[in-house]
Amino acid sequence: MSKIDDLRKLLHYHNHRYYVQDDPELTDGEYDTLYRKLLELEQKDPSLITPDSSTQRVGTTPSDKFEKVKHSKKMLSLSNAMNVDELIQFDLRIKKDLAVNDTDIEYIVEPKLDGFSIEAVYEDNVFVLGSTRGDGDTGEDVTTNLKTVRSIPLILNNSIMDRLEIRGEVVMEKSEFEQLNKLRSETGKQLFANPRNSAAGSIRQLDPKITAKRNLKAYFYALGSLDEAKFKKHEDALEHIKNIGFKITEYKKCENINEAVAACKRFESLRNDFKFEIDGAVVKVNDLSIQTRLGERARNPRWAIAYKFAPQEATTLIKDIILQVGRTGVLTPVAILDPVKISGVKISRATLHNLDEISKKDIRIGDTVILHRAGDVIPKIVKVVESKRTGNEIKYMMQENCPVCKSKLVKLENEIAYRCLNPKCPSIIKEKIKHFVSRRAMNIEGLGNKLVDQMVDNKIINNVSDIYLLNLKKISFLDRFGEKSANNLFNSIADSKSCDLQRLIFALGIRHVGESTSKALVDWYCNIDKIINADKESLVSINDIGTEATDSILNYFSDEQNLMILNQLKTAGVNMELKKTIGQRPFDGKKFVFSGTLSTLTRSSAQSMVEKLGGQTINSISKSIDYLVVGLEPGSKITKAKKLGVNIIDETNFIKLVQG
Ligand code: IVH
Repeated sequence: MSKIDDLRKLLHYHNHRYYVQDDPELTDGEYDTLYRKLLELEQKDPSLITPDSSTQRVGTTPSDKFEKVKHSKKMLSLSNAMNVDELIQFDLRIKKDLAVNDTDIEYIVEPKLDGFSIEAVYEDNVFVLGSTRGDGDTGEDVTTNLKTVRSIPLILNNSIMDRLEIRGEVVMEKSEFEQLNKLRSETGKQLFANPRNSAAGSIRQLDPKITAKRNLKAYFYALGSLDEAKFKKHEDALEHIKNIGFKITEYKKCENINEAVAACKRFESLRNDFKFEIDGAVVKVNDLSIQTRLGERARNPRWAIAYKFAPQEATTLIKDIILQVGRTGVLTPVAILDPVKISGVKISRATLHNLDEISKKDIRIGDTVILHRAGDVIPKIVKVVESKRTGNEIKYMMQENCPVCKSKLVKLENEIAYRCLNPKCPSIIKEKIKHFVSRRAMNIEGLGNKLVDQMVDNKIINNVSDIYLLNLKKISFLDRFGEKSANNLFNSIADSKSCDLQRLIFALGIRHVGESTSKALVDWYCNIDKIINADKESLVSINDIGTEATDSILNYFSDEQNLMILNQLKTAGVNMELKKTIGQRPFDGKKFVFSGTLSTLTRSSAQSMVEKLGGQTINSISKSIDYLVVGLEPGSKITKAKKLGVNIIDETNFIKLVQG
């Protein structure tokens, strides 16, 4: 059989898994690559195109579970731009088609929602029919299921059209997807690969009661039949869509392709801040008369293109599962992977959290898995591709002894984790030191993980206070350690002595004492001796310190070994007091809460602005909060803030406040 036939068959198979079974084996990126290969072969020799080729239709044939619905206007798909150059080519082609080389084309750029496309039909403002895209011409009647999606209005606020066909995307928010998969793994059900598949699976199943439980959302981005007499621009249609009661996403109007490229990149950088998955940005010609002039090809309009973001998913093989010992002695199973790249980063390990996670997801050595990595978040295994099983996979068996010090592992009551309880376990010692020197703790640059491992293995350091006793002689025999890097290291060790006390408290790695509890302790007690001597009554009276943290703090400071190390740190000259800030900063003592997606800043840059000016960012609303900063889709915090009389400001006013 020829290569092109094989490719076509392969695409048919993956289409079926994706659209009909809602259970893909390939990531979108892998599918796209195959699809593009077929397209390329067909473009080279158009005589090879067959009418049933995946390139000749939109989506797939509807399954026979639902009644068929013929769309009055074909539901198109979009061609893809894989990089900026392909966006520029798109603009050039449009200008050429219109014979307007020197005139800028105005575009609207929208996020490309990674969901399930639908059409809703309203007659005299009443929702009468909801359908899936199907093959673009004919979809499935999913009216009953769509009626359970609350963001699809059943009655419209006075649309100016008697019959309205509207197109959009049903999505499942990321948090909802996580919860659903957690529940499914607990009840032994097959996991969904991603929010899109779970949205699709929720719409394309026969019991509307299940759909109703899934808490889906729908966003709309186009009218099926457009009436140019009523709307001149795509943005007018979008605003009308919003005004009559639909959800739309934010969008950006751009004067020319360069602005559109910038908007695409901005959406890409904000991708992880969206509540729902977006896999690209859609660039659309704003002027509807130009859209009409440009028209469409078999499958895609000529006036729009999807700029695809780098994929965040990949499939790979689990080569082994090992146990890692953390600084508290907890053992974490880690999957050793056949290395794969996701958005430019090579991934060769993924945490499996605990044994429950392994058994719930039924992860075995030798399994092919779908791996997801969003932004800087640690990569995680979403699910096993069961169809790739050969029968040779090996179930993971928990070991009885610590892989590092060989002492017997213990499972404490009420805990799912196994622990190594040997305080001399080299792995625990190493991890404690790595935490102590880390950026958010004492921030000792130059003392990286490998160096810590070497120093502990060579018994140069045995605990955190030994760091301050390091000298040239002690480290001279370590591999690749020149005088310059040694001096840099000594300088940063010396610098760390004047760290804020809250960093030191956090660096000690007391269980349940994170950065905010450390700060609360320091704000309250001002120096280490008072913290060491704090009693239970005093600790529980502090608002931000919970009972678990209280017990753990008392426990930590009653341990002779810990007190000795603190004493050695003190002798070494490490700061043990709250430092008074010199001069006032504008946000000193001010507390901020953020809610919703900001449009010009990322959440973390807004938070660091607050901190630089002396303020604090907090997660939840309470009376003591000074400002709630709201972005798009702010959620329930706003109601609570209103109730408590907290100042509510938008992004623009936040920026004004920062700029003073
Ligand atoms: S416009 C004629 N806008 O992506 C153009 N589509 O690959 C029709 N999608 O079928 C689509 N977000 O399911 C458009 N803002 C957006 C979109 C969007 C997601 C989906 C839609 C479409 C597919 C094309």
